[in-house]
Amino acid sequence: MTGGAGFLGSHLCKRLLDMGKEVICVDNFYTGSKDNLLPILDNPYFEIIRHDICNPLYVEVDEIYNLACPASPVHYQSDPIQTTKTSVLGALHMLGLAKRLGATIFQASTSEIYGDPKVHPQTEDYFGHVNPIGKRACYDEGKRCAETLFFDYHHKHGLPIKLVRIFNTYGPNMHPNDGRVVSNFIMQALENKPITLYGTGMQTRSFCYYSDLLDGILAFMDTEKSVVGPINLGNPVEVSMVELANLIVSLTGSSSKLVFKTLPQDDPIKRRPNITLAKKLLDFKPKVSLEEGLLETIKYFESMLTQNASI
Ligand SMILES: NC(=O)c1ccc[n+]([C@@H]2O[C@H](COP(=O)([O-])OP(=O)(O)OC[C@H]3O[C@@H](n4cnc5c(N)ncnc54)[C@H](O)[C@@H]3O)[C@@H](O)[C@H]2O)c1
Repeated sequence: MTGGAGFLGSHLCKRLLDMGKEVICVDNFYTGSKDNLLPILDNPYFEIIRHDICNPLYVEVDEIYNLACPASPVHYQSDPIQTTKTSVLGALHMLGLAKRLGATIFQASTSEIYGDPKVHPQTEDYFGHVNPIGKRACYDEGKRCAETLFFDYHHKHGLPIKLVRIFNTYGPNMHPNDGRVVSNFIMQALENKPITLYGTGMQTRSFCYYSDLLDGILAFMDTEKSVVGPINLGNPVEVSMVELANLIVSLTGSSSKLVFKTLPQDDPIKRRPNITLAKKLLDFKPKVSLEEGLLETIKYFESMLTQNASI
């Protein structure tokens, strides 16, 4: 599991251990944290390797889950060259490893490959609308190139690949300061600080709770070799940023007020997955409502604030 100390990777490590698998977590701890792994650190079937996947890795495994890459704009834009390297060199190294071992390899791609989409909701056959030299390009183009490499290894070498395009996912273990909208709004609400919205706040996103996403990923890994993706995974329920902010204020009982700032460059106006393919191939149905998922996430950030306050 590359990126195993991050938000999604840490949950996936745990799920795989619970399924009786042995897991090697490979992470350079750029955005990930050992705290995310505390509940599984003592498991004898779990190992951590501190390693940057921009360098080759030699291990013996049956499956590879490639999740390493900073996922929030704040983190992926702070060193954009490293972000492209992680996506592209990291993919090459993991694909090389998978080819040597004949291992099935999963790629965490992203809805960002659709850019600021002109087709709504996005289906897997949409090629996207991406600015190749914008601030988000290091992530978007890096992930697009990784998709190309995955499919070229599949076509040229018959490598078993599983490629998912993940739409906004949230939950416990997210980094509190990563600037992603859910963590941002919750932290601001818990601290009774102004909630920052960009533009009119009417832009929409759809949010998937992490456990629903993991169900989809694991169902995909269970499909036949011929099912390679790309498959969109996410929750199609769309909310505006204003609605999300108001919901978080009400769930936290916060006194925060909404403030509006200028919309950043290339910020998509609408994003919603079309999950018809995932429903058909994986019987994928997100179960956790936004309210339920937010309550769990709020509890996580609350406990983090309480712990920090007591240090
Ligand atoms: N969370 C989402 O909403 C979302 C949406 C779309 C795609 N994704 C993809 O899912 C994956 C996991 O995302 P996340 O939300 O858990 O992000 P995250 O930042 O919490 O986790 C990424 C992990 O990768 C590690 N990492 C980064 N660069 C590395 C490198 N060069 N070598 C080794 N480890 C490295 C980080 O330290 C971190 O532990 C990413 O590839 C991301 O692009 C996530």
